[in-house]
Amino acid sequence: MKKFVFATNNIHKLEEVEAIIGKKIEIFSLKDIGCVTDIPETSDTLEGNALQKARFIYEKYHKDCFADDTGLEVEALGGAPGVYSARYAGEAHNSEANMRKLLLELEGVENRKARFRTVFALILNGKEHLFEGIVNGEITKTRRGMSGFGYDPIFVPDGYTQTFAEMGDALKNKISHRAIGVQKLCKFLNTLQ
Ligand code: IMP
Repeated sequence: MKKFVFATNNIHKLEEVEAIIGKKIEIFSLKDIGCVTDIPETSDTLEGNALQKARFIYEKYHKDCFADDTGLEVEALGGAPGVYSARYAGEAHNSEANMRKLLLELEGVENRKARFRTVFALILNGKEHLFEGIVNGEITKTRRGMSGFGYDPIFVPDGYTQTFAEMGDALKNKISHRAIGVQKLCKFLNTLQ
């Protein structure tokens, strides 16, 4: 079985990716390999940040690995917060404050179209590969639902009426940006066998 380090400290992401991948690949967390560093994400693109995190692990631990970076891109805000989604309301990475700011920015705005975009960077035998997952949807006017994380309570994917936070993990993990990105990554790995 293939083994990869998933370069994230976000327990929600780790659980989502493990649930999506199932038993096909063995995933090690940063904690599993004893990495306690807060890996820098200083790029101004999702691709750059995902690569930065994966390269950090590959260079330091010499292990096959992947990392993701995700942004919520809101059409009426010209794609913001995008790559700055985690720090939208300040350095604190506070989801409540981020959602509050976004809802405030969109007050009175009719166009609520948005998309989650995830980029996965995979480093396998020293070679880099990128995979993208996008899910289109709309920003609600109020927070709804308790599951998931981040901006989930204010995002309704196209074709659904519930927010990611209302629909629960099982459905989110079938249709999400991260699911699409991970499926592409798995498909690529399958072509190697
Ligand atoms: P990062 O990829 O960890 O840098 O995430 C960027 C921002 O997007 C953070 O505020 C996350 O909480 C948020 N985020 C990432 N993935 C998701 C998701 O699947 N649902 C909702 N918010 C997310």
